[in-house]
Amino acid sequence: MKRKIVILSGAGISAESGIKTFRDSNGLWEEYRVEDVASIDGWYRNPEIVQEFYNQRRVQLSTVEPNRAHKLIAQLERDNDVVVITQNVDNLHERAGSSRIIHLHGELTKITPEDKNGDVYDIGYQQIKIGDCDSRGVQLRPYIVWFGEDVPEINRAAEEVATADILLIIGTSLNVYPAAGLIYYAKKDAQIYLIDPKDVNVQLANVVHIKDKATSGMEKFIEQVSA
Ligand code: OAD
Repeated sequence: MKRKIVILSGAGISAESGIKTFRDSNGLWEEYRVEDVASIDGWYRNPEIVQEFYNQRRVQLSTVEPNRAHKLIAQLERDNDVVVITQNVDNLHERAGSSRIIHLHGELTKITPEDKNGDVYDIGYQQIKIGDCDSRGVQLRPYIVWFGEDVPEINRAAEEVATADILLIIGTSLNVYPAAGLIYYAKKDAQIYLIDPKDVNVQLANVVHIKDKATSGMEKFIEQVSA
């Protein structure tokens, strides 16, 4: 039977593609207030700013490419049963070739009506504006899970972590819950790896910390799990 590898990724995996992380120095949350652009309250207060923020993110995403870390994760599927759980709203795991991806915090290239009673539409890298509505006349919004909203995929993600032989945590500061709590669903005998250039607070025994950037860290991870 194939080994099951579950990957929990965050903004750090896309950093070497040129997308800023949130909490590093020079990160996005130094430039913007999270409560203005990434919370449901912010959307109700000033939806124009929120649309503009995600319009810019979409434009930027159209200019970047998956890096070697995304590609090495996709290649793990040749010999392993692999599930990627990502907090990222970019599509770089898909574009690198991963086939089973859970987007905990939504997807930049999709939109949905603000009452969430309608379809999810793929808009690629297009802009959306206030006044763009679905056929019922309901305003369309980014398909993003904002602070203050439920995380609909969290249970499915927890089930995947609970059945992993290997859990790889890569490029996340583990500051945001419930995503950060997923690692505690790992089996007692699961092998836990962490790839991050900084120390990250992981309260689990026997974590192998590969203290490196995502691309070079992934090379080392593959050497270690193939040995
Ligand atoms: P953070 O910005 O909080 O953390 C990024 C992590 O990536 C840090 O631990 C960095 O040390 C690490 N890092 C930086 N460069 C790296 C590199 N080249 N290779 C590997 N790691 C690197 O981002 P997240 O943990 O993903 O949610 O943030 C979680 C959530 O907070 C996001 O999904 C977003 C944000 O608010 C929403 O907006 C809802």
